[in-house]
Amino acid sequence: MRHLMSPLDFSVDELDKLLDLANDIEKNPAKYAHACEGKKLATCFYEPSTRTRLSFEAAMLNLGGSVLGFSSADSSSAAKGESVSDTIRIISCYADICAMRHPKEGAPLVASQKSLIPVINAGDGGHQHPTQTLTDLLTIRSLKGQLGNLTIGLCGDLKFGRTVHSLINALIRYPGIRFVLISPEELRIPSYIREEVLTANGIPFTEVERLEDAMPKLDILYMTRVQKERFFNEEDYVRLKNYYILTKSKMELAKKDMLVLHPLPRVNEISVEVDDDPRAAYFRQAQYGVYVRMALILTLLGIEVN
Ligand code: NCD
Repeated sequence: MRHLMSPLDFSVDELDKLLDLANDIEKNPAKYAHACEGKKLATCFYEPSTRTRLSFEAAMLNLGGSVLGFSSADSSSAAKGESVSDTIRIISCYADICAMRHPKEGAPLVASQKSLIPVINAGDGGHQHPTQTLTDLLTIRSLKGQLGNLTIGLCGDLKFGRTVHSLINALIRYPGIRFVLISPEELRIPSYIREEVLTANGIPFTEVERLEDAMPKLDILYMTRVQKERFFNEEDYVRLKNYYILTKSKMELAKKDMLVLHPLPRVNEISVEVDDDPRAAYFRQAQYGVYVRMALILTLLGIEVN
């Protein structure tokens, strides 16, 4: 039995196959409409979510399966003090596969060790968010035609933004990747990623504070929200929340074929006037999230469709 905790749980070859499957699902949805008939997905979300939870549910429904679950810790027995280990043993009796989001780093991993069904990490605290990374990889590969030889700007909350941590881990496995890390001093990438992931693997990167300086070089601009819920004090959040705002005039500095991605939700970091720019790809990205989660469910359940 296989779980998904980190994007590195799949080899580059396995990832290629998964993304190919997602592209086939996009082209031929009818072929997959009954693939998971009789199967159930449990979504166990101890933290707020719109896209991740609903795209998992849409994915399972598109495959002909069913869904059950809870969308906040308050509405589950966590509120009575039940551990994730006990909860997953119970969920294993009710469902065939589980997507779990939790505010504590490592909670889905603990669950996977007690689980009788595949567990997918749907975001654990400020740590990892592997299915967002699968979404990001599918979006980049589908719209750019490649995952290597790209200069990627990651902008905003690089400290607490788990989508950024997972994406860096996944992208360094492709040739010719360069990063421009754009953040205020307080929200710089954690040193374990700078040293153990980037430097240790000889990945070229620069750290800058001004988005305008980075803009002309980028093939992809990955914007992120300042992660309010992970701040220790409100004052710091208020000071940093509007540090970056991508506007039409900043977009004029970018390459004609640069793509703007964002895992969403956005707060103020991308002005709505940018939505009409053909380079704004964040809504298409959310759609790719459904295809890739369909591919992931099929892969972890070992279901092949011919
Ligand atoms: C992200 C997350 O939960 O980490 N959202 C998502 O799943 N698309 C990004 C965020 O909340 O800022």
